[in-house]
Amino acid sequence: MSSIKISPSMLSADFSCLKGSLKKIKDAEMLHLDVMDGHFVPNITFGPCVIKSIRHLTNMTFDAHLMISEPDKYLEDFVDSGVDIITIHRESYDTIEDMKSTVKSIKELGVRSGISINPATPFEEVKEVVGSVDLLLIMTVKPGFGGQTFMKEVVPKIKEASEFIEEHGYDTEISVDGGVSPETAPMVVEAGADILVAGSAIFKGAPEENIRRLRDAVKYRF
Ligand code: DX5
Ligand code: ZN
Repeated sequence: MSSIKISPSMLSADFSCLKGSLKKIKDAEMLHLDVMDGHFVPNITFGPCVIKSIRHLTNMTFDAHLMISEPDKYLEDFVDSGVDIITIHRESYDTIEDMKSTVKSIKELGVRSGISINPATPFEEVKEVVGSVDLLLIMTVKPGFGGQTFMKEVVPKIKEASEFIEEHGYDTEISVDGGVSPETAPMVVEAGADILVAGSAIFKGAPEENIRRLRDAVKYRF
């Protein structure tokens, strides 16, 4: 079993001082960047130019979680902004073939690829692609906002995905996003998650201490 990675969600950071926020989370392995377009989800956040402006501040792996309707239009801009992983949503596409074609484009652009599913979307919807991507992002809240309550009913889906990945010998990592905290993280990790995305549980209060608490909550996996 590999170590659990912590991926703070910048959505909950202090936007007036991103440099300072990044310093406080330097012990985390990744940075989760929630890109929202006000169309795919009812909220608007930031795009490639903001990401580009903070790229030089840290060596953390940047994962862009694209909650947008037409990701294909912006792939090059995100690559140019310096992200390491581009994660697209299954629900942004009518057909799995369309999503597969975007996954192919992401790879051709030389970055890692991720796919995400909403709480209501069954694992079945991405099963045939999961072996050819680097990351499966399982949402445990309805996408759009930070600070929502963790949806426990999604845990069996994490387990289903993890077992499928293991059975097939894929090296796809499972990331879980939404309401992850020291209280909910153990069940997420127990179900097979490799990466914990957390916004409010990290940025509310002291991020350094909160990262430590999150790691401690799942430390039997380290
Ligand atoms: C929700 C975003 C999440 C969010 C998580 O649409 O994808 O990444 O920032 O925030 P918390 O951890 O507060 O639920
Ligand atoms: Zn996210």
